[in-house]
Amino acid sequence: MPKMRNTPQTWGTIAIALHWLMALVILGLFGLGFYMVDLTYYDPLYKTLPEIHKGIGILLALVLVLRIAWRLTNPRPAPIAGTTPLEERAASLVHHLFYLLIVVVMFTGYLISTADGKPIDVFGLFSVSATLTSIPEQEDRAGLVHEYLAYGLIALVVLHAAAALKHHFVDRDDTLRRMLGMRASDRYGSDQ
Ligand code: HEM
Ligand code: HEM
Repeated sequence: MPKMRNTPQTWGTIAIALHWLMALVILGLFGLGFYMVDLTYYDPLYKTLPEIHKGIGILLALVLVLRIAWRLTNPRPAPIAGTTPLEERAASLVHHLFYLLIVVVMFTGYLISTADGKPIDVFGLFSVSATLTSIPEQEDRAGLVHEYLAYGLIALVVLHAAAALKHHFVDRDDTLRRMLGMRASDRYGSDQ
C-alpha cells in the first residue's frame, strides 16, 4: 500500500503528487507567459491567455500553501546513501531557493495584475482584490522582476533536473525513483 505521508526513507504519495503537479504547472505557466507577451492587440487570444495565466497562477499559489504546510508537518526523507555532504547542501539550497523564487514570482505576478486597482478574477470562481497599488511604475517594475525571476526559476529547474538524472543514470541510485513513487530498485540494488 503506498503511504500518504513521507517516511524517513521515502516520499509519500501526497508529496509526490504535489511535486509533479507543481512542476508541470510551473513549466506550463512559463511557456504560456513567454508566448502571451508577444501577442498583438488584434490576436483573438490577446486577452484570454493572460486571464488563464493569472487564474492558474492564483490556483497554484493555493497549492503552494498546501505543499509548504505538508512539507513542514512531514519528515523529510534522508538523502540516499552515497550522497556526499556537499551534494546534500547543494540540494537543500536549491530546494529552498525554489520555494523562495516561486513565492516572489507569484507575488510580482499579483502586483503586475493589480497595479491598476482591479481585482484578479479566477475563472469566475472567486476574485483576489488589489492591495498594494502605489509603488511607482508598479506594473513595469513588477513585470521586470517577474520576467527575470521566471527565467531564474527555469534555470534552476534545468540544474535540478540534471542533478536528478545524474543520480539516476550515473550514480544509479534511487533518488529519482523514490520521487516517482517507485519501489527501491532491485535492478541496481545488489551492489549498492
Ligand atoms: C510560478 C508561476 C509563474 C511563472 C513561471 C510565470 C511566468 C511568466 C512569464 C515567463 C511571463 C512573460 C514575461 C515577459 O516576457 O515579460 C509572465 C508574464 C506575466 N505573468 Fe506570470 N508567471 C507565474 C505566475 C503568475 C501569477 C501568479 C500571476 C498573477 C496573478 C502572473 C501574472 C503575469 C502577468 C500579468 C504577465 C504579463 C506581464 C507583462 O505583460 O509584462 N504570473 N509570467
Ligand atoms: C518546476 C519544476 C520543479 C520544481 C519547482 C521542483 C522542486 C522540488 C523541490 C522543492 C524538491 C524538494 C522536495 C519538496 O520540498 O517537495 C524537489 C525534489 C525532487 N525533485 Fe524536483 N522540482 C521540479 C522539477 C523536477 C524534475 C523535472 C525532476 C526530474 C527530472 C525533479 C526531480 C526531483 C527529485 C528526484 C527530487 C527528490 C530529491 C531528494 O530526494 O532529495 N524535479 N523538487
